[in-house]
Amino acid sequence: MAPIAASDLTYYPAPFPDHVPQIELQRISVKDLFDGNEAAAAKTFDIFCNSGFFYLDLTTDPRGQGFDDAANQLHDAAKDIFGHIPIEEKETWKGNPLQGFLDTGYRALAKDETGQPTEKGELLNVPSYDILNDSEYKLPTWLEPYRHAYKSFAHHGDLVGQAIFQNLERQLHLPAGQFTTMFRLSKETGGFVRLFRQPAIKSGVASDIPIGPAHTDGNALTMLFNWQGGLQIARPNAASRGIKMIDGANAEEEWLWLKPIPGHAIVNLGDPMVTFSNGLLTSGRHRVMTPPGEQAKHHRYSLLMGMRPASTTLMRALKSDVIPPETEEQKQRPDVTALDWAIAKVKAIMERAAQNKA
Ligand SMILES: [Fe+2]
Repeated sequence: MAPIAASDLTYYPAPFPDHVPQIELQRISVKDLFDGNEAAAAKTFDIFCNSGFFYLDLTTDPRGQGFDDAANQLHDAAKDIFGHIPIEEKETWKGNPLQGFLDTGYRALAKDETGQPTEKGELLNVPSYDILNDSEYKLPTWLEPYRHAYKSFAHHGDLVGQAIFQNLERQLHLPAGQFTTMFRLSKETGGFVRLFRQPAIKSGVASDIPIGPAHTDGNALTMLFNWQGGLQIARPNAASRGIKMIDGANAEEEWLWLKPIPGHAIVNLGDPMVTFSNGLLTSGRHRVMTPPGEQAKHHRYSLLMGMRPASTTLMRALKSDVIPPETEEQKQRPDVTALDWAIAKVKAIMERAAQNKA
């Protein structure tokens, strides 16, 4: 598939406005990450230690291009599923009872008086490992036509994600394979592919109220595709840093829009990487808005791949000559597994989202 032009109204229904405060993130070539290019690895590491977000240029390597192509196919899937499947049907796609709502299931974040999703949006998660490795994995009939697109997205996303982890491993002076083993897709990791739709604003006027609380991610790595604005990040260096990062609104923060760029994913790390690096790496604070300007008149679709550590991984600082050693106080903390930690994190975010609704 040829790269999609910014003017393609199918994917980019209205231009991103010039008048909103925005940040031009640095760009990293996916080919450089696959090649283990030292300069690109150092630049990525520096970003992950500071602002925490970058644009990943997927057009420089066939594996990246495959990721982007699959993203566009799932964009089409989202239009069909969210646009045509009744909510009662979508709600039959339940979360995994073992893992709560981490990796599987449909959810409308809020419903109106007629029982339809409000402007807060609706999302649908599919577990990466199962869709990629289990051809018998049962999908509802309305998801089945998109099995191949999901599979391709999870396959290419895993390749890209592992390349990022491999580079991080080297930068953190960890033994080769430590991260790539920790993040290898398995039945237990809870890695997922998420489709999200924010319905067009009924009034047609963009709102300045976030649709959810500002937060840092519970995923170790997030790779996001979106075709309209909606994501905002706190101005770099204004955000809290380190393992004491606390979710919550901060009036001092200045929020900047991220303009979607064709052929690029937006990449960020989440809290587990802050823990593993004992505060060296940053999980960037962000929030989601309704799209800006004219874009508010159109449904906003976004798609992400979330990667998590193996569920039995202990949430502790790893040992290397660049990672600060745990303090005596940190050593006293009881062991928590990645799975228990992730369940608690999701619960906290959902509770804060519910409070926001009130
Ligand atoms: Fe997030």
